[in-house]
Amino acid sequence: MNNLIATTAIKARQLTDEEIHEIEHEKTHYPYTQAVGLEALKIVQKYQGWVSDESLLAVSEYLNISPDELEGVATFFNMIFRRPVGKNVILLCDSVACWMLGCDSLKAHFTKTLGIDYGETTEDDLFTLIPVPCLGDCDKAPVMMIGRETYRNLTTDKIDEIIAEYRSKN
Ligand code: FES
Repeated sequence: MNNLIATTAIKARQLTDEEIHEIEHEKTHYPYTQAVGLEALKIVQKYQGWVSDESLLAVSEYLNISPDELEGVATFFNMIFRRPVGKNVILLCDSVACWMLGCDSLKAHFTKTLGIDYGETTEDDLFTLIPVPCLGDCDKAPVMMIGRETYRNLTTDKIDEIIAEYRSKN
């Protein structure tokens, strides 16, 4: 179990009506409630931006799934953020094809230009950088995603353009 949850008196927050509505909808797709855990965490993250201990406990109580089990789901599925993230989460693929085509130097470029390492968020809360396994576009490596957008054949110049674009609209 998450140490914070295990050792402090954190209380579940109240799920919102929207969250409950969507979780109930997901329940209709699964034969038993336990299987809805991951979808419920995704729903909470969609509305809250990340999954706090309070949110995890709320889902745990609502679906009657132990916090341990949910924490395991959240840990296994690396798109569930257990810490606050920036407005734009940069998911940089670091699997084989992207690694062979220079994702390490792209990561170094992010660190140099944004001042963040993997798992960190810029001071203005605009960007969080996270490494992810294969995004399924290996023939166009290196690849990254921001939100629903996928960016392929990345170079440092292309990254500079993309970052400038996000800065201008945020
Ligand atoms: S290895 Fe990066 S997209 Fe497949």
